[in-house]
Amino acid sequence: MCSRCVIMKFGFILFLFAIIMSEDTLAHKLRLEHWMSDLPAQLKEVPLIYLAIPGSHDSMTYGITRSSTVAPDAEPILNRLYPFFRGTILRWTITQASDTWQQLLIGIRYFDLRLATKPDDDNFYFTHGLYGDEISTALTQVKEFTESHPGEVVILDCQHFYGFTREHHQKLMRYLLNLYGPRLVPRQIDLQAITLNSLNRLKMQVIVVYRNESVYATSEFWQPQMLPSPWPQQDTIDGLNTFLGNIRRHPGTGFVHQAVLTPTPTFIVLRWISSLREKCAIPVMNEVLPKLTEFAPGPPQPGNVTAPVNVVIGDFVDMNNALFPRTIIELNLKLLRNTEIVHHNHG
Ligand SMILES: *[C@@H]1O[C@H](CO)[C@@H](O)[C@H](O)[C@H]1NC(C)=O
Ligand SMILES: *[C@@H]1O[C@H](CO)[C@@H](O)[C@H](O)[C@H]1NC(C)=O
Repeated sequence: MCSRCVIMKFGFILFLFAIIMSEDTLAHKLRLEHWMSDLPAQLKEVPLIYLAIPGSHDSMTYGITRSSTVAPDAEPILNRLYPFFRGTILRWTITQASDTWQQLLIGIRYFDLRLATKPDDDNFYFTHGLYGDEISTALTQVKEFTESHPGEVVILDCQHFYGFTREHHQKLMRYLLNLYGPRLVPRQIDLQAITLNSLNRLKMQVIVVYRNESVYATSEFWQPQMLPSPWPQQDTIDGLNTFLGNIRRHPGTGFVHQAVLTPTPTFIVLRWISSLREKCAIPVMNEVLPKLTEFAPGPPQPGNVTAPVNVVIGDFVDMNNALFPRTIIELNLKLLRNTEIVHHNHG
């Protein structure tokens, strides 16, 4: 082989090495607390629905404690079991250990909210079979976080409502409108026009998805079809991987990949002394998260059956030094290689 060829080959290898290194150092430069502001400039021009965004499943269950009472979304049998099996039921109900502020600090930018009313009480509560906290502390933390982190955008998904009348919806919507005011990102026909840069310019930082037809009373909130979030309803790793691998996405809307196992009653009875963390969240981290690294964000590509990711949610998102949000955020760096495609498709 001629010496020149060897040098050229060597140069080429160095070049590849430089690309790999620069991506690697970029990944290290992303601070979880500020990851959206730290993204490379090109990615701030990518539609938000084509970025990878880590979220938490049943985000507010950290507020459920031994003194929580049974909520309207519980299976009727829970009322009878709860007094006797409080500890076990808590271990299978709580899906997050970190509170809202801590979740924001480790990069979580999507919150899955289940809301309930209490009889003879004017407040709204988070719920997951058992009542969690009253909503204002957590939602005010989101407001404070956006004030102190002007480059970050947070999605609040009002996913389920229990014990809600039309008046409750009006009251909750008024509360959210007053709390976030001009920081809200109003819904619009072309979601592809919404990028981090466009939101930064308008100082808009909070997206509220409202999954009830009351959403039509205001244009400040997003409708459910703008961010489909199908429930995998799987209790095995294989079932969940198959579900996630077969997702289809429409271009022009966001999407939530739910990377979570749902234990059935039988599943729980067979693992009574364990917990959702041990039997669902840790296996997902070990066996589903590595598969998710093969996914990429970006617009759906004709001819590619694997749907790109947008929001990806998990249980116990703080585990292993926040490995889950870290992994999802780093998927965005794959777009640096593909930004041509992204711009071409939406331009
Ligand atoms: C929306 O809320 C109203 C009032 O609580 C309720 O009657 C209706 O069924 C809800 N819609 C959906 C799709 O859940
Ligand atoms: C297909 O899309 C997925 C998800 O966006 C991506 O990870 C994968 O590399 C794509 N495959 C090809 C052959 O482009």
